[in-house]
Amino acid sequence: MKRPVIIDCDPGTDDTIALVMALAAEELDVKAITTVAGNQTGDKTAINGRKIVSYLKKNVPVAHGADKPIMRPLVTAPHVHGESGMGPVELPDPVTPTLDIKAWDLFYELTVDKSEKVHLITLGPLTNVAIALMKYPALKDGIEGITMMGGSACYGNDTPAAEYNIYADPEAARIVFDSGIPITMVGLDCTHKALLMKDEIDSMASVPGTGAKLAQDMMNHIYEFATRFGFSGAVMHDPSAVTAVIKPELFVTAPYHVVVETKGKYTTGKTVVDLMGVTKKDPNVNVVLDIDREGFVQLVKKLLKSYES
Ligand code: BDR
Ligand code: CA
Repeated sequence: MKRPVIIDCDPGTDDTIALVMALAAEELDVKAITTVAGNQTGDKTAINGRKIVSYLKKNVPVAHGADKPIMRPLVTAPHVHGESGMGPVELPDPVTPTLDIKAWDLFYELTVDKSEKVHLITLGPLTNVAIALMKYPALKDGIEGITMMGGSACYGNDTPAAEYNIYADPEAARIVFDSGIPITMVGLDCTHKALLMKDEIDSMASVPGTGAKLAQDMMNHIYEFATRFGFSGAVMHDPSAVTAVIKPELFVTAPYHVVVETKGKYTTGKTVVDLMGVTKKDPNVNVVLDIDREGFVQLVKKLLKSYES
């Protein structure tokens, strides 16, 4: 049976690859895509989400969410994702419309009082989810769990301590981490090992179809960027989170108690993972620590091939 999911994202170059994968996966029933301000402004991530769905000819609703974090100014990442948020890729204007409902209201509509719970995959700042949880306390009963790209048990990438998605809206992240919803945190501990090497990216060029072309253009862009920072391949942050839902057996995870720092002078946005159990608090997060990289690459190839016809 397909697993019902909603994908909340800020496309975003690696978000785009993650969407290409999720929309092809026979294991997933993507009920909706919601967008949030993050890598780029809210209007840009919203139109990018609609363009991707439209270009891939998928019939999935797209709803616009928050245009800024709940308490802070927006910090975008044009140096990583470009001015449009789509790196070098220019997609045609979308035929997919924006739903006349905000992301948080759509979460409610698709999850509360439904016969089956929905899994939430988050690939950007957690603003939409936090707003939804504040507005609808019953929401957590309709969400089976959250698999997020975000955080880290080690270092940061936006600051020395914090990963971007958590740093961009730490107050929202704290609400989500403290919500009691089962969380799988696919952070930098995992995603910095989810690399696509140059020959692997090149080998995908022979795969026909819209999905492979779009994903490969993004992979090349990310490869150029990542190798400038010392990585040996293109870092697949958001695709790792989607993969963790499709094929959890590819990951090494462990339960830990995690809190989000919101006020640190140097550590705002850090996910403080109690690796040594010093707080004696019950684990609230399944922390992903490692990935079977070869298995990941095989899955990426398989999903891209499904756009052939
Ligand atoms: C995360 O930040 C964004 O720039 C990427 O899309 C990813 O979600 C990595 O830190
Ligand atoms: Ca993202």
